[in-house]
Amino acid sequence: MIQLFRVAKIFPPNYPALTDINIQINNGEFVFLSGPSGAGKTTLLKLLFREEEASEGQILVNGRNITRLNGRGIAQMRREIGLVFQEFRLLSTLSALENVALAAEVVGLTKRESMRKAFHLLRELGLKERHDAKPASLSGGEQQRVAIARALVNEPILVLADEPTGNLDSEMADETMRLFLRMRERGTTVLIATHDSGLLRRFSHRVITLQRGRLISDSKLRVDKDLTEAP
Ligand SMILES: Nc1ncnc2c1ncn2[C@@H]1O[C@H](COP(=O)(O)OP(=O)(O)O)[C@@H](O)[C@H]1O
Ligand SMILES: [Mg+2]
Repeated sequence: MIQLFRVAKIFPPNYPALTDINIQINNGEFVFLSGPSGAGKTTLLKLLFREEEASEGQILVNGRNITRLNGRGIAQMRREIGLVFQEFRLLSTLSALENVALAAEVVGLTKRESMRKAFHLLRELGLKERHDAKPASLSGGEQQRVAIARALVNEPILVLADEPTGNLDSEMADETMRLFLRMRERGTTVLIATHDSGLLRRFSHRVITLQRGRLISDSKLRVDKDLTEAP
C-alpha cells in the first residue's frame, strides 16, 4: 500500500526535514506516525499525496511510483486518498454540509446522493445541528470534524490524517478515532500523524516514531525482531 525507500526531503537552502526514511505499510493497516513537533510528520504526509516532492528516494502509494507522476496522475492518485489537513482547508463560502457533499460530487455522485452521504457522516460525527453553518461560525473542533467527514465521504482506500484530534476534547477525539477504526474494518488503510501520547496509549496500534527527520522506532519491526530473536 505504502512503501518508502531511502526517502529524504531537503527544504531550501538545505534543511533536512526527512532523512533516509524506509517504511512499509500494508493494505488495511492502522498506523500512527508520532514524534515531537518539528519531527517531520506533516512533511512525510505531504510527500505521500505529492503536495511536496521527495528530494531523494522512491515512494509507492497504491502500487504507483508517485515520485514519477504528472499532474493528471497526481489528481488521479488523490482521488483514492482521504486527506485530513492540520489546518482543515474548508471552503469558507460553503456550509458544513456543502463542504462535505462537494467532495462526493467532484468524483461523480449526484447532488442528492452527495448530500445524503454528507448528512449521514456529519450526524455520525455529532454535527447534525450544525450542518447549515459556515466554517467561520464553527468552533475549531467542529471544523475539524467537518474536515474529517469530507475525507471519509468517498470511502477512500487510504486515509492520511494530520493531527486529526488536535482540536478535540478527549471524548470527541476517541469518537473520531472509532470512526477511523470503522474505516479500517472496511479495509481502508489509515495513517494518522499525532503528537498526542494519550491517544497512542488509548488506541494501541502500530506506531512509527520520527525525531528530527529520522525514523527512530517502528513498533511493528520491534515485534518482528523480538519474534525472530526468540529461541
Ligand atoms: N516548506 C518548508 N520550508 C522549510 N522548512 C520547512 C517547510 N516545511 C516544514 N519545514 C521544517 O521541517 C521540519 C519538519 O516540519 P513538519 O513536517 O511540519 O513537522 P511536524 O509535523 O512533525 O511538526 C520543521 O523543522 C519545519 O520547520
Ligand atoms: Mg505537523
